[in-house]
Amino acid sequence: MNANDNRRLTDVSAGTPMHQLFKRYWIPAGLVSDLPTPDCDPIRIRLLGQNYVAFRDSEGRVGVLDELCPHRRASLMLGQVRGGTIECIYHGWRFRTDGSIAAMPNCDDAGMLRRYHANAYPVREAGGLLWVYLGPSESEPEFPRHRWMDVPDSNRHPRIVATRSNFVQVMEGLLDTTHLAVLHQDSLPRADGTVKVVNNVVRPANRFSNVSTSSKVPRVEVLETGFGLYSAALREAERDGQALKDVRITAYVAPSTIYVANGNVTLYSIPVDTETTYLYIIYGDPEKPLAEEPYLAYVERGTGTEPEVAARWGFSRETLGCPGAISIENRWGQDREKMRRGESYSGLHPFSMEDAACTSSMGPVSDRQELLVPADLAIVRMRRYLLEAADAVARGAPAPAFDSLQHAYRVAAIYAEIEPSADWRELAKGETTAA
Ligand code: FES
Ligand SMILES: [Fe+2]
Repeated sequence: MNANDNRRLTDVSAGTPMHQLFKRYWIPAGLVSDLPTPDCDPIRIRLLGQNYVAFRDSEGRVGVLDELCPHRRASLMLGQVRGGTIECIYHGWRFRTDGSIAAMPNCDDAGMLRRYHANAYPVREAGGLLWVYLGPSESEPEFPRHRWMDVPDSNRHPRIVATRSNFVQVMEGLLDTTHLAVLHQDSLPRADGTVKVVNNVVRPANRFSNVSTSSKVPRVEVLETGFGLYSAALREAERDGQALKDVRITAYVAPSTIYVANGNVTLYSIPVDTETTYLYIIYGDPEKPLAEEPYLAYVERGTGTEPEVAARWGFSRETLGCPGAISIENRWGQDREKMRRGESYSGLHPFSMEDAACTSSMGPVSDRQELLVPADLAIVRMRRYLLEAADAVARGAPAPAFDSLQHAYRVAAIYAEIEPSADWRELAKGETTAA
């Protein structure tokens, strides 16, 4: 990829096409639990290279305002939340969640009180996440609900992995189907169906084991849609002596959502700034209480997303970039001894930390001077889709979107075994047709 396209693809700072594209969507801004109670401490939110303050007022309503007070630019993060407002500690101006001003103690001009306001942004709480819309009000889309938001809280498990890498890099890793059988080989059930114990979690083989750990090169095909892409990894399979085609379809939803893997995980790659990404990993299952044992062991310890591990490895929101966190300088705690003894392939903590270490090791923004192969097709097509979407918005055209809210609700990764001559696109079309 040439340097100019690479910059247009990755730069999310104010004024860039990618910044504008993201501002056409509702995006995750943190966890609901970051603001646990009315009048709790306000928090800083950084998105697309800009800072905001979020607070929960006495009624439980969440407000998101520009971080700096519109009076003389002190940070509202230092403010007091009480009486239905956030109060700036510099001169005591008090702001409601809609940005209107309740008090300006150093000004007795009632006209100014009415005229002045802070920039406030629409907020939603859904699926355990805080969502904001940062774009122009005339372009605000309806809030899309997804299936995973409607499962009981006990069946949902949101985690955030913070990395010093650009958001595109993180997404590419999620679309990169052939690294699974290599980088993550310690954690996956083997192709012969044997069970392996990893990270103290017994992971039984399942019907996808052969596919995900197969060393066979998959054929990758892509279907472009109005909202993003479906990418299919196709492998020859066999069941009871009958030849079949094994189909593993990942959905990419613009600008940066991926529905992947075992069908119950949704991932949002959210640009904090050009060089920092929060990857929201949300497990949700209609039947199983994934946030409770024994399921928690599968989804958390089995994928290496335990909060204490991410913190120790420097991939949590609190420890990212902190001095002393494990980093490239010490190979993220890679156990070279275990590698030498053949006990571990990557020498890294399973899954999320393996991904985070590889993605971060490219540098915050990869130069994309790559030698690509046909199996990398989904990555190439996603980049092109994103660039075209950003260009469209820059021209004043609409951003990619679902054709209905029902469709946004339904979208999912798809797994199937089909006749060798059947077309996988028929499966995806079932999903792309409006309900
Ligand atoms: S800077 Fe906030 S009230 Fe003056
Ligand atoms: Fe991975």
